[in-house]
Amino acid sequence: MKLAQQKIALVPTMGALHKGHVSLIDMAKQQADVVVCSIFVNPTQFTDPKDLEKYPRPLEHDMKMLLEAGCDVVFMPSVTEMYPRPETWHIDLGPAEFLLEGEFRRGHYQGVTQIVKKLFDAVNPDVAFFGQKDFQQVLMIKNMVAFFQLPVQIVSCPIIREDDGLAMSSRNIHLSPDDRKNALVLSRALDYVKANFDSIPVAELLAYAQDMIDHTPGVALDYFTVANGETLEPEYDKSHQNIVALVAAKVGETRLIDNMILN
Ligand code: PAF
Repeated sequence: MKLAQQKIALVPTMGALHKGHVSLIDMAKQQADVVVCSIFVNPTQFTDPKDLEKYPRPLEHDMKMLLEAGCDVVFMPSVTEMYPRPETWHIDLGPAEFLLEGEFRRGHYQGVTQIVKKLFDAVNPDVAFFGQKDFQQVLMIKNMVAFFQLPVQIVSCPIIREDDGLAMSSRNIHLSPDDRKNALVLSRALDYVKANFDSIPVAELLAYAQDMIDHTPGVALDYFTVANGETLEPEYDKSHQNIVALVAAKVGETRLIDNMILN
């Protein structure tokens, strides 16, 4: 493919595809000649074995969606193909690795960057597309690409939401009808912060948003923060150019994340 001077795009996924993934494929199709989508449930990024075990794997549904989305190549390696022998992996992803998701899921981003590097080695893409919903993941992957000086452009694509605001996620299928209703507090709290960002001090916005979530039954907040989009450290200075609100919470038994760029 490289010999034909074609631009190759990779959309890495763990399957259980939804409209968010289709939007990544749509973006990829606009920017490349060949779109490869990988489906691989990567064991090294799961910090809870039960989470790995129950991760949805609706293969027939995924194939249908990929066909309809116009994906050119599906790459679906086995675990032994990707990890033929035991291997240690540890690279410097910068201090942001240990914040937010990194604090709740120790080692998660080492596993993510390990598999993404392997996928890049296998597919050799010019450009790769990731969802902004995993904001910290995109940052970590960019840091990995810089660490190895890889010639791959990383594109972050906007979050796709259900009509009522819930960010699309493969994990949403685990939500009971009550969880599904309660989960809306996450996008509502983010909407509130975004709508009032210019007029209310950050500390007050945070207090209100956290309170909204704490008062929703069945929702246990891990964090709600307004952060610098490069360092992920809390950001109170609104004159900074890249500020994002990020939230993670357990809704029933399902852990969800969401975020909104504020300026
Ligand atoms: O976002 C995901 O689905 C996964 O973390 C990724 C990037 C495919 C790596 O396994």
